[in-house]
Amino acid sequence: MEWTEDLATGIQAVDEQHRELFRRINALVAAIKQARCKDEIDATIRFLDEYSRTHFADEERAMKESSYGGLAEHQKQHAAYLANLAELQQEAAAPRIKGVSYDLSVTTNQIVVDWIVDHIMQVDRKFGAFLSNRLS
Ligand SMILES: [Fe+2]
Repeated sequence: MEWTEDLATGIQAVDEQHRELFRRINALVAAIKQARCKDEIDATIRFLDEYSRTHFADEERAMKESSYGGLAEHQKQHAAYLANLAELQQEAAAPRIKGVSYDLSVTTNQIVVDWIVDHIMQVDRKFGAFLSNRLS
């Protein structure tokens, strides 16, 4: 997956963090595709989880500081995503049988890749628009 300009929120710090999130998601997708060992997949999920938490905290702080009305709803979405990652971690830790890594990549695509693209498009960009209206 690739970060493209149509995903831009207009908030430079947020956009940079989104690019880093994409890099980490790609590392996870690659590890699963190559059917790497559990430890390695687990490490890439933790790597993504850690960065997601930092990024969400930064985003939510910026929303608080600008008294953004959509904060509570946005926080809920971030929490749901972190719960998805925890679920993925469990699935990755389950004993592997043939074909499981295919299931894992389908799950990852649904609950990580699709989620983040949709979230940025629908939710983060709203905050970007709010900030730019407020400043203009
Ligand atoms: Fe967000």
